Amino acid sequence: MAGAADFDTVLVVDFGAQYAQLIARRVREANVYSEIVPHTITAAEIAERSPVGVIFSGGPKSVHVEGAPVVDAGVYELGVPVLGICYGAQLVASQLGGDVARTGRGEYGRTTLTAHGGSTLLGPAPDASSQVWMSHFDSITRAPEGFTSVASTVDAAVAVLESDDRRIYGVQFHPEVAHTPGGQAMLVRFLHEVCRARPTWTTTSVIDTQVELVRAQVGSSRVICALSGGVDSAVAAALVHKAVGPQLTCVYVDTGLMRTGESDQVVETFQRNQGIELQHVRAADRFFEVLADVVDPEDKRKAIGERFIREFEAAARGLEDARFLVQGTLYPDVIESGTSDAARIKSHHNVGGLPEDMDFELVEPLRALFKDEVREVGTELGLPDEIVWRQPFPGPGLGVRIVGEVTPERADLLRLADAIVREEVRAAGLEREVWQFFAVLLADVRSVGVQGDERTYGHPVIIRAVTSDDAMTADWARLPHELLERLSSRITNEVAGVNRVAYDITSKPPGTIEWE
Ligand code: XMP
Repeated sequence: MAGAADFDTVLVVDFGAQYAQLIARRVREANVYSEIVPHTITAAEIAERSPVGVIFSGGPKSVHVEGAPVVDAGVYELGVPVLGICYGAQLVASQLGGDVARTGRGEYGRTTLTAHGGSTLLGPAPDASSQVWMSHFDSITRAPEGFTSVASTVDAAVAVLESDDRRIYGVQFHPEVAHTPGGQAMLVRFLHEVCRARPTWTTTSVIDTQVELVRAQVGSSRVICALSGGVDSAVAAALVHKAVGPQLTCVYVDTGLMRTGESDQVVETFQRNQGIELQHVRAADRFFEVLADVVDPEDKRKAIGERFIREFEAAARGLEDARFLVQGTLYPDVIESGTSDAARIKSHHNVGGLPEDMDFELVEPLRALFKDEVREVGTELGLPDEIVWRQPFPGPGLGVRIVGEVTPERADLLRLADAIVREEVRAAGLEREVWQFFAVLLADVRSVGVQGDERTYGHPVIIRAVTSDDAMTADWARLPHELLERLSSRITNEVAGVNRVAYDITSKPPGTIEWE
């Protein structure tokens, strides 16, 4: 992993639960670099990476289930500190000779933990009882020889087990979740006191390291970056610019399907504030040309994607000596794709992807970072909040928010309605609580209304606002009625041709976030 060499590393062994990424993020919050590895990793492979500690994540409910994942027991002999969490704790107990019993009683949710006294993980003077978050079925009933049981709950006799001699530990609960208030402190004790990890993973050191790596990779060659206005490409560009300055040229393709003020903001931020060389390709006419008469959503995406590639190619041809292409690949992209082909996945999800036959070497300075870390890096590099905290916006832009043919007039109309939604949600102070909020135009639908004394026959605008963690699932946001009322009245009053506003109360699934 790029940059890891300079930092103490903790490996998080993933047993297939959704908690591994959260654990890795918590470790980094303690300023220690972490990486997620599959449980099939061998002890030799772990040793090769010289981690200062290893954490086993949660996983399936029981170590007794057939095919339950295990880890190479050689890991316990490496002399590297180990912390097992939930399933990981049961695994430690069962692999080292303790007992994990099917008690027939599970424990789920908030539970009271009773400490038997001070300990390495609990600290010298822990509260006699505290709240922890449990999610397990089997229980550790006897700690392995050489281990001490330092805390319990009603249904877990051994809720925390420790061996300071072997530097191996286990907790039955989830210290990484917010429902375990003392959890982060326990992780920190493990990282700082047991692993002796240097707390050097900070935004500043991340930037410094990446700057050096980019310089080493790129040398004196020219680098090109397609800016979308989104946070990932923006931060990647700013970082590469800090590394190689004028060797970087950014290309911003204005598709005519951006939101109000967006193009100006990209130019303002990158060209004027950051001093980055920026090619502003004004291609709206050419995009609308290829979108004429296209109604099918997939055809629309394809038309926009292909046009984008042509525009980018044309810009890149003017920079013949460009050998490197910047991509805003993030760590979750890398994990999800099983490391090697993250770039392909990312570009696939972007606006139609970048030309495959273009022979670029990729520069991916955010490959090791989670989204929250990317935002911190962006802020430290001087990017404005509007970019750093920008909500996700689809590559094909407003094109996928106009149901029906996409025309310049319809895009203008939607831009107006969308600007009202953004303005009002921001004014209500809900901008960071809601994952995405926007307007959709049903361009092919018309219905009867009455405005003034006149009968109207206009289009409906749909307001879509969702809460989500990762866009894989989403729920409709419970926006206050007063806000919805303001949106409805402003949109019908200010956007000519719209006589009806509806609020989308569909979650994902079964709906998607975008309409298309
Ligand atoms: P759906 O509509 O499938 O969207 O629930 C999931 C998330 O992906 C965003 N989205 C895109 N992002 N290029 C992108 O970079 C695209 O072509 C694209 N299409 C949808 C959408 O806004 C939501 O956050």
